[in-house]
Parts: sequence; C-alpha cells; structure tokens
Amino acid sequence: MADFATTRTPFTREAAWRLVCENTQSPSLRKHALSVETCVRAYGEREADALSLTGETRDAFIEKYAITGVLHDFDYERFPSLDDHPFAGSKILAELGWPEEIRTAILSHATYSGVPRLSHLEKSLFACDELAGFLTACSLVKPTKSIFDVDVAGVRKKMKDKAFARGVHREDIVNGAAELGVDLDRHIAFCLKAMQTNAEALDLVGTKA
Ligand SMILES: [Fe+2]
Ligand SMILES: [Fe+2]
Repeated sequence: MADFATTRTPFTREAAWRLVCENTQSPSLRKHALSVETCVRAYGEREADALSLTGETRDAFIEKYAITGVLHDFDYERFPSLDDHPFAGSKILAELGWPEEIRTAILSHATYSGVPRLSHLEKSLFACDELAGFLTACSLVKPTKSIFDVDVAGVRKKMKDKAFARGVHREDIVNGAAELGVDLDRHIAFCLKAMQTNAEALDLVGTKA
C-alpha cells in the first residue's frame, strides 16, 4: 500500500470536503466537520513541527490530519445510529480507496467501536471532536455570537453548567486532553485559537460588540 505521507494521491482535503457535502445537508453538521478539521489540523501542524517535517512531507502530514477531521462524521446524517456510525462511513471510504490510517482514526473516535486510539492523529481527533462543538456552542450564546468573545475561563465555567449544551460529553473533552497528554486549559486555549484563526469559514466572527 502506498505511503500516504510521501505519495500525493487524489485523496485530498478538497475531495474529502466534497464527500462531506455530498452526504451532509445540515449546515450545523457541515460546520462541525469544518471546526473539528480546524482543530485537528492545528494539532497536525504542531506535531509536524515537533517532528521537524518540511516541504511536501510536512504538507501531506498536515493534510492527513485535516482530512481525518473533516471526514470523521461524513456518514452521520445518513447513518446516525450507534450501530452504523462510523462503521458505514468507514466501509464507503474503504470502497473509495481512502487510506487505512485515516479510516482507522475515524473508527477510533467512537469509543464504542472498540478501535483503540494509539496514534497522535487518533488522539487528536478524539480530543477535538466534542470540544469543537462545545466552543461553537459557547460562541453562539454570546450576544455577539462571536468566538472572539470566548475565553478559557468561560469555557471551563460552561463545562460545569449541566444544562448548557447537554449533548456535549464533558468527560470526552477531559479524557481526550488527558489521552493527548495536553493540560485541559492549554487544550481549550489551543483549539480556541485555531478556531478564531479560521472564524470566517466557521461563521463564528459574529458581530462586533
Ligand atoms: Fe462521530
Ligand atoms: Fe464529531
């Protein structure tokens, strides 16, 4: 099998986004794909730097993170049940020839899949999945609906508020940061900054106060 890190394939981030859009009509689910991509890509950049990767190798490494982030729930709208997601999507990706490393990482984001999170990519995806949704929710309750008005202390406070964004599993955020080996406040700050940097694409610029 071709080494994804060194071979440029047609399996690009743009092809991944097309696949997401073909399978996802919900604007919020599309935004979820983009916000998780944003955070996972940022961890890919940090890891690429830690590994001293350069040039095309670095680009391909980061693109792998971006693809994994953007694709992780691409089957969710069509196959939302725990029996199907992300297994149905993984089968489709395999049939289309997407690299195994990406498919395994996607499977591992579902704790019930039985696929362990071993790689930095897998740990990054899990750590960012629920947090990206939570940071979006924290932004949208601001009067300005702006992610620039969200800060770490406010996020930590909201995490304790059980009535707020009930669908977001707090323990996954806490455990995800621990698995990744990142202090929780630093993890929140890191993802917040990544999402702020990409706020326009995520529709989270909001209105200026
Ligand atoms: Fe999922
Ligand atoms: Fe997700």
